[in-house]
Amino acid sequence: MTPDEKKQQVAQAALEHVVEDTVIGVGTGSTANHFIDALASIKHKIEGTVASSEATAQRLKSHHIPVFELNAVAEISVYIDGADEANRHLHLTKGGGGALTREKIVAAVSKRFVCVADDSKLVDVLGKFPLPIEVIPMARSYVAREIVKLGGKPIWRENFVTDNGNEILDVHSLNIVDPVGLESELNHITGVVTNGLFARRPADLLMLGSDKGILTFD
Ligand code: 5RP
Repeated sequence: MTPDEKKQQVAQAALEHVVEDTVIGVGTGSTANHFIDALASIKHKIEGTVASSEATAQRLKSHHIPVFELNAVAEISVYIDGADEANRHLHLTKGGGGALTREKIVAAVSKRFVCVADDSKLVDVLGKFPLPIEVIPMARSYVAREIVKLGGKPIWRENFVTDNGNEILDVHSLNIVDPVGLESELNHITGVVTNGLFARRPADLLMLGSDKGILTFD
């Protein structure tokens, strides 16, 4: 199977975690897009969705799936989203598509977080995939210098603006042995909106598409 076929396979399998008659959170990226397309087949079974990006909201709406503002919703039963990397503790790196901040907010509100990915995303140690950090534009150079002090190599994602009007630094060369600690440390740098480590609020279930079928970790 190709990586995209594995993404499609796991996105379809994630439908079983959709809680009927509730609002669900929907992530961003190619795996989330497969999930949205699959969700269209059962859209009558849910109350609606909260989207983690403008792109996701548009795709949901193209399927006539209701999209609510997060502030109008009291509860999200489950959040379904992809990842750039995942370890066996269900710590993730996310934000390859630049939607990390809204993704982290929706994940925080959701009762359950089901992460869906192809099996190439499973790693022993996070950090090979550059870690995205969303920054307030005027703080970009300052934040970059602080990250260098922590041993990372930040690269400005040029010509990219997040849905929140901010910029992204992709941090290379991090060997993330303490994801919870690093997530907090990076978020304490003034000017950082948030970083792509999802360790303080990890996934509750990791589902991986593979040649052997769906692999699950919880
Ligand atoms: C977007 C994300 C995505 O979940 C992550 O980049 C994985 O994307 P894909 O499903 O296309 O492999 O965090 O900000």
